[in-house]
Amino acid sequence: MSFKEQLAHRASLVEHFLSNCLHDRAIPPRLLESMEYSLLAGGKRLRPVLMTSWATMVNPEASGLHDQVMPFAASLECIHTYSLIHDDLPAMDDDDLRRGKPSNHAQFDEATAILAGDGLLTEAFWLMTTASLSKGLPADRVLRAISVLATAAGAGGMVGGQVVDVEFTGRNDVPLDELRAMHAMKTGALLTAACECGAILSGANEAVIDAARSFGQSVGVAFQIVDDVLDVVSDTETLGKPVGSDEEMGKTTYPSLIGLEKSKHLASQYIETATQHLSSFAGPEKSFLEALARYIVDRVY
Ligand code: IPE
Ligand code: IPE
Ligand code: MG
Ligand code: MG
Ligand code: MG
Repeated sequence: MSFKEQLAHRASLVEHFLSNCLHDRAIPPRLLESMEYSLLAGGKRLRPVLMTSWATMVNPEASGLHDQVMPFAASLECIHTYSLIHDDLPAMDDDDLRRGKPSNHAQFDEATAILAGDGLLTEAFWLMTTASLSKGLPADRVLRAISVLATAAGAGGMVGGQVVDVEFTGRNDVPLDELRAMHAMKTGALLTAACECGAILSGANEAVIDAARSFGQSVGVAFQIVDDVLDVVSDTETLGKPVGSDEEMGKTTYPSLIGLEKSKHLASQYIETATQHLSSFAGPEKSFLEALARYIVDRVY
């Protein structure tokens, strides 16, 4: 299988799990509809794929590991989807299109969108706990991974980064290292947790967990630089979300601070750094992760 075929196959496995993971949860129908509207609207599913891939690379002998890690990987996609629903709200980026469809608040209403986000965030903890343990993952690994993911999603991670993003809006004097720190929090934290949790759940040693974290940190910053670039150079149909949104909102981005060409170059450099953290691994899963890292800078949406 080519890399693109492998990626599509793995994303389809995630899709399949997501498509009924909330069905036995006694969620009021309109809330479930709103949560699934965004969760099942597509999306590249890169974070769950990164998590299962790290788990498989670290422990290729463990049969069934991919399946065991899936609920945890799905929990990350729920948290990511909640972050997108809230990111699009009028009080934040005020974007009406997401994953090629009307944003959650545009399709439903603001209250439902806020609560669908809250619901996805909180259901993620059921997936991380009850659903993960039912797959036979050791409780100590699960507990550590929960701590890592909760920290990444929280006020010192994604949520904190979103606040800094709002604070930086309308400014053109943000130092580059502060912009990098903001990207590392709002986007890098969840991508880093994807890799780190994959390693933790597969029973990796500390050196391997460190490598996963370092890989994720570089990929994470590169990912948001590319997201900022695509907001300038792509088109709405390809992206499935409004282009030019950052400029319209007066966002501080890599292209706004250093221009498009330097931004693209920097993203490639971060990806090269990321792949260096794979140097002590071998096998087909390493090749897949290398290709995935490169895809993150070469992607068109
Ligand atoms: C978009 O993430 C938001 C950022 C953190 C940059 P993705 O580009 O992974 O969005 P989906 O999941 O594919 O829709
Ligand atoms: C948001 O960054 C990152 C999140 C934590 C959701 P953006 O605001 O650039 O993401 P998009 O472009 O709307 O997907
Ligand atoms: Mg935003
Ligand atoms: Mg946005
Ligand atoms: Mg963006």
